[in-house]
Amino acid sequence: MFTTALETPQVNQVPDDLFSAIAELKRDLKAVILAHYYQDSDIQDIADYIGDSLGLSRQAANTDAEVIVFAGVHFMAETAKILNPNKLVLLPDLEAGCSLADSCPPEEFAAFKAQHRDHLVVSYINCTAAIKAMSDIICTSSNAVKIIEQIPPEQPIIFAPDRNLGRYVMEQTGRDLVLWQGSCIVHETFSEKKIIQLQVEHPNAEIIAHPECEPQLLRHAQYIGSTTALLKYIQTSESPAFIVATEPGIIHQMQKTAPHKTFIPAPSTNNCACNECPHMRLNTLEKLYWAMKHQTPEIRLSEDTCAAALKPIQRMLEMS
Ligand code: 13P
Ligand code: SF4
Repeated sequence: MFTTALETPQVNQVPDDLFSAIAELKRDLKAVILAHYYQDSDIQDIADYIGDSLGLSRQAANTDAEVIVFAGVHFMAETAKILNPNKLVLLPDLEAGCSLADSCPPEEFAAFKAQHRDHLVVSYINCTAAIKAMSDIICTSSNAVKIIEQIPPEQPIIFAPDRNLGRYVMEQTGRDLVLWQGSCIVHETFSEKKIIQLQVEHPNAEIIAHPECEPQLLRHAQYIGSTTALLKYIQTSESPAFIVATEPGIIHQMQKTAPHKTFIPAPSTNNCACNECPHMRLNTLEKLYWAMKHQTPEIRLSEDTCAAALKPIQRMLEMS
């Protein structure tokens, strides 16, 4: 029997009520939806857990769900897969990468590491599984200082891939770290001049920043921390307003937890939306629905990479 054009199923057709359709798929698949704070608001609203990289890793390490739907970027979903090599880990858009992870190619990093043979390698979680496999300990923006402080002072350390977080950790710990010169396009987009102007216009506002920002911006911040730390800070600070120097996706949770306060996204150097992470924003509610419906695209990693990358992640979880 032939199908007419009218009967042909519409591959891109999504149900009217995406929220209910996703909830139903979640029950059928025994899935959990983990989302980073930089995701679109509607993805955050449907997630079972929203968090920073450390919180998301902890959730991935402890989940009993059969399928992990990761609404974040590739390295985050990879971390979930490394922690759950036998589970299906879905990422709504496989192209959701990370400029920081891309700034540390494995071959070049292997050569760099070979030049510093006596160094311990501490890598920020924003790196590929291949870099994790070459590392001794993983850290996130919420535990980097705590982890470096636990390493004996005489032990030389390579810190990769984020030079800005690395410099911030050096300042906080007084340790000399050998830095890989990587960075995040989003956190290097903020304009120091515009942020100062903004604070003049809003004298009651505090500047709060993620440690991936450049030092010239961080020096104006009244508080520096990971996305979860920033979210906690705005609840405890008495300030009525905040200039937020990180990806503005976090503002959705800030507004939900402190609706009486004002949150102003820090401006970029150009008049663009460059403070939005182009990788994170590739995920949409529609793509999340399709990923669950068809159980693809999934994260695949070799057994060897998973095994080698698991050790430094486990060390981080033990040390934080
Ligand atoms: P968090 O550790 O705050 O989740 O940061 C992740 C990230 O990608 C920042 O750009
Ligand atoms: Fe990577 Fe920067 Fe996007 Fe975070 S904000 S995922 S570090 S590109």
